[in-house]
Amino acid sequence: MSHISIDAHRQRGKISKYIYGQFSEHLGRSIYGGLWVEPNSNIPNINGLRTDAITALKAIKVPVLRWPGGCFADTYHWADGIGPADKRKKIVNTSWGSVVENNHFGTHEYFELLNQLGADAYVNGNLGSGTVQEMSEWVEYMTFNGTSPMADLRTANGHKDPWHVKFFGVGNESWGGGGNMRPEYYADLYRQYQTFLTSYDSDSPLYKIASGPNVDDYHWMDVLMKNAAPYMDGISLHHYALASAWEDKRPALAFPEAEWFSLIKSAQKMDELITKHSTIMDKYDPEKRVGLIVDEWGSWLRAEQGTNPAFLYQQNTIRDAMIAAITLHIFQKHVDRVQMANIAQMVNVLQSMLLTDGSKIVKTPTYYIFKMFLKHQDAIAMDTLDDLSETTSASISKNKDGYFVSLCNYGLTATDTITVDMDSLISTVSGEMLRGTKMDQHNDFDHPDEVSPESFTAITHDSHQLTAKIPPMSVVTLQIDTVN
Ligand code: AHR
Repeated sequence: MSHISIDAHRQRGKISKYIYGQFSEHLGRSIYGGLWVEPNSNIPNINGLRTDAITALKAIKVPVLRWPGGCFADTYHWADGIGPADKRKKIVNTSWGSVVENNHFGTHEYFELLNQLGADAYVNGNLGSGTVQEMSEWVEYMTFNGTSPMADLRTANGHKDPWHVKFFGVGNESWGGGGNMRPEYYADLYRQYQTFLTSYDSDSPLYKIASGPNVDDYHWMDVLMKNAAPYMDGISLHHYALASAWEDKRPALAFPEAEWFSLIKSAQKMDELITKHSTIMDKYDPEKRVGLIVDEWGSWLRAEQGTNPAFLYQQNTIRDAMIAAITLHIFQKHVDRVQMANIAQMVNVLQSMLLTDGSKIVKTPTYYIFKMFLKHQDAIAMDTLDDLSETTSASISKNKDGYFVSLCNYGLTATDTITVDMDSLISTVSGEMLRGTKMDQHNDFDHPDEVSPESFTAITHDSHQLTAKIPPMSVVTLQIDTVN
């Protein structure tokens, strides 16, 4: 039994739509094959971008896309990825399997992708192996409107108008693959690099993001905030859900019951991480101006058998749907600090929305959570009074018609009966459900609809209270229309 009480006056604040952000890196088949297939491909595409993927992603209203990495960002030299495709440098992707990177997907192709998706840009710059000048010129190339060496080069490459860059990351995981730096050293470099990232559009200045801590490295957060907070708009946090130790990645399918719960427990740690990092941030930024940007999150499981382990291709089950719902609920609890989050990664890598195989494509259970949760984007998070069962997670937002409720019962056997009380008059309630009947239920290319949303009707209500019976291994959303 669970109970939730909604008081219209208890509001946490706006849920930034950017919490529903995505991440796509030059890693395995995330970009190449998953999104980019070349304009002359037999796979239907518009300007090289596969139409089936774009159509599916448009339906989840991707608000922002982080690119080009991840680890790859700190080896990426943007000038390799502009100009005629056949003249672009072929490099070795030393971060991910030492495969050839032909640079056919570069800055222009990224903005074409954003344009087709209707998403905002989050470009991650190279601080690890790139210069201040290189980073500064990339911003000039992308955003300067006028005559300048980089703007002229952009025009010569076929794009006269500048693009809009909303978010810019200064390095990635600088404590590790991004340079193995100490926080004091990175804080100084961050201050230096960001100085030369000019906001050419004064109406919409760059939102600059510092490379933040790994999981629970609170020392990194403290040093960065102490030394560089006034120079940043956001600071990143990375946390992946693991079913066991980092060195012992567990399978995405056919896992034991214990790993259902260990993966979920690992995802739930996000709440503690955000709380503790926010407390440190509060010391230096009590007004909460600086955003905590969780720009890598999701489940990290063993790569599927027969695939290149460096490509991080994993299946996605109803368990991943639980991870997505629970984590998004945590972000919505912390709307005062979490200004953006980017699940890793959008296609074919880690906890993805879509899986592709040649011309085939399949939507994952995680995709459906993003679709079912659309009404939370930019709505007002409610601070409800909850008494939830041990295996239930919930989040409620207010929209123009009433309330949008998402509920996740991650128990394996028991249905949870949830009552929701509210101080306004209920007019109608409609519901949707994503449900598993076994722990590793998933969609594959031969069975694409094993897990997909269905209408949810196990609801009764009177004027101010509703009751819903939430089956185990399910996520339910309810739109409660009210009369005030
Ligand atoms: O998302 C995969 C990798 O995980 C990213 O490249 C890196 O930043 C993190 O370690």
